[in-house]
Amino acid sequence: MNDLPTPPKAELHVHIEGTLEPEMVFELARRNDVALPHSSVEQLRAEYRFRDLQSFLDIYYANMAVLRTEADFRDLAAAYLRTCADNGVRHAEIFFDPQAHTKRGVPVRTVIDGLSAAIADSDVSAELILCFLRDEPAESAEQVLREAEPHLDRIIGVGLDSAEAGHPPSKFTEVFRRARELGLRAVAHAGEEGPAEYVAEALDLLGVQRVDHGIRALEDPQLVARLRRDRVPLTVCPLSNVRLRCVPRLAEHPLPRLVDAGVLVTLNSDDPAYFGGYAAENFAAVQRELGIGDEQLRQLAANSFEAAFLDDERRRGM
Ligand code: ADE
Ligand code: ZN
Repeated sequence: MNDLPTPPKAELHVHIEGTLEPEMVFELARRNDVALPHSSVEQLRAEYRFRDLQSFLDIYYANMAVLRTEADFRDLAAAYLRTCADNGVRHAEIFFDPQAHTKRGVPVRTVIDGLSAAIADSDVSAELILCFLRDEPAESAEQVLREAEPHLDRIIGVGLDSAEAGHPPSKFTEVFRRARELGLRAVAHAGEEGPAEYVAEALDLLGVQRVDHGIRALEDPQLVARLRRDRVPLTVCPLSNVRLRCVPRLAEHPLPRLVDAGVLVTLNSDDPAYFGGYAAENFAAVQRELGIGDEQLRQLAANSFEAAFLDDERRRGM
């Protein structure tokens, strides 16, 4: 780990369920008496060859069957937070997918209690962002927001994730309006697999303050000019984009074009247990494959603090 670049940074795009390492899948399956379709960690890991976002999501949701109790969510988040020091991550804004758990009978409260217990016990500054699953009906998102309302003191914002194609941000206009009325921040995955129009919709209809991924915004020069002008941060995830084949290879990743266009870009790990690395590996990958120099890496890391939902006093403390 020591030879990886670890400038101080905030991680703004990490799904806590995407930090579930194969070893922990097996440990929690034993603890909760859940039968697994794979006989070993190696056999499970061998499945991590993805054709696209959906082929990843199928395994990502299947593995969540082992997450059942408050202790499971606490242990999952604690394990991620322990990786932060080695990766230079001083602050993390962590996504979670409550609908993926409520549909298995795990209450929202169990999830939030477990995750927030780990955050309370950690030296790393962290916040939670509740994501709606865009391939579920909008009514399901509204229901989960209602269930989360008693716990909003432990949630900083809402996000939008899961299968993007065919599920435009416009489907979630009402629930995002309600979330913003409740004082929550708003972010959304857009322009990962989906078109540039979804990025514009996320801004115009959902009122998002950051865009997760957003790489396909490059297909619309006027949109890029808007992102630059309004300093809308993009949370870019290079290893994820390659593993999900949104980008054919790292050397062709659009990161340098976004940086050159003056967009406020941050680097993040997305689902590090599945995509071959945590924050530092993403920084190392763009340095190695895209010729990003030390100074630019430091700038990308600094951008993450500007883009974070931190007040000035907390930002100074980083
Ligand atoms: N959920 C977890 N990872 C995701 C990704 N990369 N895109 C959309 N939804 C996700
Ligand atoms: Zn993501």
